[in-house]
Amino acid sequence: MHIDIISVVPDLLASPFSHSILKRAEDKGIATVRTHNLRDYATGKQKQVDDYAFGGGAGMVMMIEPIARCIESLRKDREYDEIIYMTPDGEKFDQGMANSLSLKKNLLILCGHYKGVDERVREKFITKEISIGDFVLSGGEIAAAVVADAVIRLIPGVLNDETSALTDSFQDDLLAPPVYTRPSEYEGMKVPDVLLSGHEARINEWRFEASVRRTRERRPDLMEKSDSHTEDSESKNN
Ligand code: ADE
Repeated sequence: MHIDIISVVPDLLASPFSHSILKRAEDKGIATVRTHNLRDYATGKQKQVDDYAFGGGAGMVMMIEPIARCIESLRKDREYDEIIYMTPDGEKFDQGMANSLSLKKNLLILCGHYKGVDERVREKFITKEISIGDFVLSGGEIAAAVVADAVIRLIPGVLNDETSALTDSFQDDLLAPPVYTRPSEYEGMKVPDVLLSGHEARINEWRFEASVRRTRERRPDLMEKSDSHTEDSESKNN
């Protein structure tokens, strides 16, 4: 997979992709991420990328011309499966969207800033608009990094067995169960015996039940999404 990210503050995106799992994905050649400074596509001495909103009001609006030049230049090298705009009024990001984006080959992500982009950018270029939650960040960069991270770690070969995404929270509409490591006892707090038993079937059953319990307590909305878990655990309890 290749991800291009367009931003007016590309420095904000330098760090997340040069560490840990995302760096390994890049080193293995599985996923490459490149950031592009929108200002490089601006003209004039000021390299202007934003202007006042027609009709007045506070805040600047990102202009269409530099964005169009940048997207068109990048499109000469690649065909994009999606051109994504990060915005609080987009479709809410979740694990399902991460799964489907992880199957794509080339993604282009545009980060909004100030009051956002001229609406005509959205009409002309954008194929998908994503929000990472009901709150407003100062720009789309951190949101883009969240999406790229969640997507890249799902690409086959990025995670090894120990970090497999199959046991993540949300992967099957359940939260992950509690996890423990050494020591087996800390200040009287003991790791559940079953996890030390070496009995794989019983451990799996404990984990599943702990997942269902945790999901029911913390995120009952997820249980409603797939009521098969409710039935599973209820029939086990009966
Ligand atoms: N830009 C600003 N806030 C955002 C959000 N919540 N999601 C995506 N992009 C954003």
